Amino acid sequence: MANLVQGFFAYISIVGPPTVLIFVVVLLLSLWMLSSRNPRVNWPPGPVCFPVVGCLPQLMIIGRRRQPTDLFPWYEKYGDIMHVRIGEQHMIMLGSHELIQEAFVKNAATVSARPTWTYLLKHIVGKDGAGVLLKSGHAWKELRRFTLSSLRDLGLGRKSLQERIQDEARFLVQNIEDENGKPFSPRFKISKAVSNIISIVVFGTRYDYNDTPEMLPVLEELMQIGEGALTLTDLARFFLPLKKIFALIDKFYSLVRQEVERHRQSFDPTDIRDFIDLFIKVTQEGQDPEIYTEWNVFRIIIDLYLAGTDTTSNTLRWSLIHMVNHPDVQKRVQQEIDQVVGQSRVAKMEDKARMPFTEAAILEIFRMSTVATLGVPHATSETTKLGGYTIPKGTVILGDLYRVLHDKNSFEEPYKFKPERWLDGDGKVIKSDKLIPFSMGPRLCLGKGLAEMESFIFFTTLLQNFTFKVPEGEKPPDGVKGFNAATFSPYDYNVCAVRR
Ligand code: HEM
Repeated sequence: MANLVQGFFAYISIVGPPTVLIFVVVLLLSLWMLSSRNPRVNWPPGPVCFPVVGCLPQLMIIGRRRQPTDLFPWYEKYGDIMHVRIGEQHMIMLGSHELIQEAFVKNAATVSARPTWTYLLKHIVGKDGAGVLLKSGHAWKELRRFTLSSLRDLGLGRKSLQERIQDEARFLVQNIEDENGKPFSPRFKISKAVSNIISIVVFGTRYDYNDTPEMLPVLEELMQIGEGALTLTDLARFFLPLKKIFALIDKFYSLVRQEVERHRQSFDPTDIRDFIDLFIKVTQEGQDPEIYTEWNVFRIIIDLYLAGTDTTSNTLRWSLIHMVNHPDVQKRVQQEIDQVVGQSRVAKMEDKARMPFTEAAILEIFRMSTVATLGVPHATSETTKLGGYTIPKGTVILGDLYRVLHDKNSFEEPYKFKPERWLDGDGKVIKSDKLIPFSMGPRLCLGKGLAEMESFIFFTTLLQNFTFKVPEGEKPPDGVKGFNAATFSPYDYNVCAVRR
C-alpha cells in the first residue's frame, strides 16, 4: 500500500498537478452524468449535444437559410425520429406520417400538452398556459369545445360566415381592379382581406383596404421574429430580441382591450354580435370560474387572430405564385369556374363538389406550400413510448408536416406542382389521410373548416375575375423556396391581374 501511495505521488510530480486536476474534474463530471442519467429514458439518435448550448451551434449553421428543408440532412443521417437538445430543452422531431400519427393520435392522451414552462411562453401566457392554443389538460379541452361551438354559432348569425367571406372576396376583387392590370404586390391586399374575416368573427367589424388596422403590422412583425426552436429554450433570453417581442405583445393586448371596452358600452346579452360579446357574456355569467377566466377567454381572442391570419394569407399568396407559374392549371380552374359558377355570382362551398380540378389545385397548394411547417409544438405530459424510444415527461414534440408532405414515397416529384395527383382515373378527387397541413389528432387545427372555406372562396373569386401573370421583364416567383419563421411565407413578388 505504501508503495502504491508513493508511486501515485511520483506520478503526480511527473505529469504535474494541473493535469491531474483536469483528470479528476472530468472523472467526477462523467460519474455525475452517468449517475444522473435516467435509466428509463433512451433518446433516439440525433446530433451531438454540447454542454449548456446543446446542438445550437450546428443548428445555427444548418438552419441559416431559413428553409423548411434545412433539417432534412439530419433525418437522412439519424432517422425519422430524432433527438435534438437546444439549451436545456430536449426536443423530438418526427419526420414521417406514421410517427406523427403514433404521437398525436395514438398517444394523444400524453402528447397533447403545450410546453408553457419554457422561458418565452411562460412570460407570455404564464406557466399554466392560457386560451386554447397554449393551454393543456382538461381546461384546454373545455376551452377548445367552447371556441369551436362559439365559432359555429357566430357563423350562423344574421349573415353567415360564408356570406361574409363572399362579400370580402368582392371587396378584394374591387381593390385589385384599381391596379388596372399593372404590376403590384398582392401581399398586403391579401393579408387585409384575410384579417378582415377574423376581425368580423372577433370584433364584429372589417376595415377598409385604405386603413391598415393597427393590429396587422404588429402581428406581421411578431410572425417574422419567431426563430423556430430557439423560442422554446431558456437561451431565448440571450438570442432573441425579447424587449421588442414583449413590446409588440403588449401593444397587441392593449389594442384588443380597447375593443373589449368599446363592446362593453353597447353590450346586450340578448344580441351577441361577435366573439368579444361572447367574452363579456361568459365572464359575467361566472360559469366554471376556474376555466372561463378573463385571461383564458381574452387569450382565445388573441389565438384566433394569431393562428387565423398569417397561415391563411400565406396560403393564398402561395396560390397566386403557383397560378402564374402554371398558366395551364390556371386556365383549367377558370374553365371549371365558368361552367359551375359562371360570372354573375360568387362561388359557395356547395359548388366545390362539382369542381374537382379546382379542389385538386387547392389540395396541391396546401401540400406543396405547407405554411405551418412544424405545426405548433406539442409536449409530453407523461413518459411516453414513441417509435420504440422512451420519451420522458416535459419533452417538446415537433411534427414535421412539411417533410411528410414532401415525402417522395407518398408524393412523386414532391417539389412539382401537380394538381392531377389528387384526381383518380374518373376525374374524382382522391381523399388521402396523408395530407396533413392542419396536423392531426385532438389538437388538429381548430380553424380548419374556416381556412378551407376562405381558401376556396377567395381563390375561385380571384380566378373568376382575373388572369394572373408574371409582369413583363420580371423573373417568375419562386414556388418552392421562401422564408420560414413562425409560418412559411413566399418571398415578395409582383403580379399583373388582367381582367377577364
Ligand atoms: C391555411 C390555413 C391554416 C393552416 C395550414 C393551419 C394549421 C394549423 C396547425 C398545423 C396547427 C397545429 C395543430 C397541432 O398542434 O398539432 C393549428 C392550430 C390551430 N389553428 Fe390553424 N391553420 C390554419 C388556419 C387557421 C384559422 C383560419 C384559424 C382561426 C379560426 C386557426 C386556428 C387555430 C387554433 C386556435 C389552433 C390551436 C388548436 C389547439 O391548440 O387546440 N387556424 N393550425
